Amino acid sequence: MASATISSRLDKARAQFGAGVRLSEPFPGNPPLWIEPLDDSLRGDFAVARHWIVEHREAIEQALLTFGAIVWRGFPIASSEHFAGLLDQFEPYAQGYAGGTSDRKVVTGNVMEATRTPPEVTIPLHQEMSYMPSGPRLVAFYCREPSLTGGETVICDMRGLLEALPDPLRAKLTTHDVEYVRNMRSEAVDDWRAEAVYRHPTWQYRFETGDPATIEVLLKERGAEFERHGDGSLSFWTRVPGITTHPVTGDLLYFNQMNSQVQHPLTIGEERAAAIDAAYGTITPRAYSVRFSNGEALSEAEFMAIHGTFEARKIAFPWEAGDVMLLENRLTGHGRNPYTGPRDIQVMLIQ
Ligand SMILES: [Fe+2]
Repeated sequence: MASATISSRLDKARAQFGAGVRLSEPFPGNPPLWIEPLDDSLRGDFAVARHWIVEHREAIEQALLTFGAIVWRGFPIASSEHFAGLLDQFEPYAQGYAGGTSDRKVVTGNVMEATRTPPEVTIPLHQEMSYMPSGPRLVAFYCREPSLTGGETVICDMRGLLEALPDPLRAKLTTHDVEYVRNMRSEAVDDWRAEAVYRHPTWQYRFETGDPATIEVLLKERGAEFERHGDGSLSFWTRVPGITTHPVTGDLLYFNQMNSQVQHPLTIGEERAAAIDAAYGTITPRAYSVRFSNGEALSEAEFMAIHGTFEARKIAFPWEAGDVMLLENRLTGHGRNPYTGPRDIQVMLIQ
């Protein structure tokens, strides 16, 4: 049954995309749909490649819903400008990244660095901005330069993940919302949390402004509540459901970052987790934390259940320079493996 479903979705995609490209499913039954050019002009001429994307917009949208993600390999995408131009018919996600947990800067236009999170750190699988009342519909990645080892942008099918969790945890996620709390220190104050090991950012850096009023407007717009502390730091939090119904497919989906926004040894490494536990204890606000809306923290057993479920579904393939991956943010999770050497992966958020 499963294989019939798999081949039929590939057959359907082949009929929609037509000749000129080779379609495959490198991980049958999982994302992504893999697209390679057969045609010389598609392989060598950026304008032709961009036109191909425009012409196949409907098939692309369909494939995103069916496969959850698409990878284009072998197309002539040689620069960040090409990446932006290739997908310029898609509407950019207007709100950008401000206020997130990952460190990143603009490359050009709507193209951003994927992350400045240190190379040795594993970024757990997650859906972009699922800690906000709204977020991007699609996330696009571009490999300008692959790392020497590791550094895969891992992905996973979110369909069926909720069903794979233990019943009591699923019930809890259905009953309670999830509360995400961030704290950002002030660069104007001499603060022990400035020590690099804690990776505790300042609000001036993360929001790119020294004006608290601007930040307050932004936080209100995004449905976040906030509190300013005597030490100059700023806490803000959002409370949103941990599951969502997909607006088009109707799938009931896990949609939260409970597993990725805890400072657990399996996510941030044993050494850093221990340093943070020792220095912050249970009183000092951490850079980020998460709990159920009834005030309960995620237990170790619950964390391990979610972590194990994600691990079992994880897909990893090595990047090659020029690769573009477009993923449906609710249907497909993403994360990053640790790496060595240089790595230049860029990202665009799409409405
Ligand atoms: Fe992300």
